[in-house]
Amino acid sequence: MDDIAWFERWDDDPDVVAATTDRPDATVAFEDTEWADEFAQQDEYSRYYIAELAGRPIGAMQIIDPHMENTHYWESIEPNLRAVDIWIGDPADRNKGYGETMMRLACRLCFADPAVTAIVIDPLNSNTAAHRFYRRLGFVPTHRQIFCGTDDCLVHRLTRASWARMFPDDAWPCGDTTNGGILAEPHYKTTEPR
Ligand SMILES: CC(C)(COP(=O)(O)OP(=O)(O)OC[C@H]1O[C@@H](n2cnc3c(N)ncnc32)[C@H](O)[C@@H]1OP(=O)(O)O)[C@@H](O)C(=O)NCCC(=O)NCCS
Repeated sequence: MDDIAWFERWDDDPDVVAATTDRPDATVAFEDTEWADEFAQQDEYSRYYIAELAGRPIGAMQIIDPHMENTHYWESIEPNLRAVDIWIGDPADRNKGYGETMMRLACRLCFADPAVTAIVIDPLNSNTAAHRFYRRLGFVPTHRQIFCGTDDCLVHRLTRASWARMFPDDAWPCGDTTNGGILAEPHYKTTEPR
């Protein structure tokens, strides 16, 4: 199965759907997203990563520079931040600590750039399980914000100082961009039929 097929499969998972919209009738996550187009549009300000367990894809992350990326999803936000989105596609792979491992690797990638001061995330206000997950990693809620006109989110932030305090082993030596071999960039095949 290629990467696009994994992303499409994960789009159907009810918890992933519920993490992306409060609409009770929604049946698919990231509605209107064509993954081939998304992957093709990646650039220095927006990248997707796939987490693999012994070669099996289990989840995905997107890391963006919210000030610079071209959709301006975060509207007006200061420079020198990163924004992370994460989802694990199969319930059987959740609640085993993989999400924490993924986020810690993502934090290392983000803070490897010495200019980055903090990471922001935007879970739906209704996604209380995700709030617990992020707070355990040192993220602090900062404010409610409506994204895309409809999505009621509770924005959280992890400063570089908090991250270094919580995970000193991850934070040193700063500038290490290795990811432990767990995160792979999608090798998308936009010319092949699905
Ligand atoms: C949010 C998400 C990424 C977290 O990933 P995860 O791998 O489930 O996270 P963890 O396993 O590190 O932690 C989740 C829970 O499992 C528990 N846990 C971790 N390792 C465990 C283990 N070995 N045994 C039992 N429980 C464990 C954690 O304590 C935590 O408990 P809590 O819910 O009471 O806080 C994942 O659940 C997910 O993809 N959810 C659907 C999409 C989503 O909500 N994405 C976030 C959008 S903002």
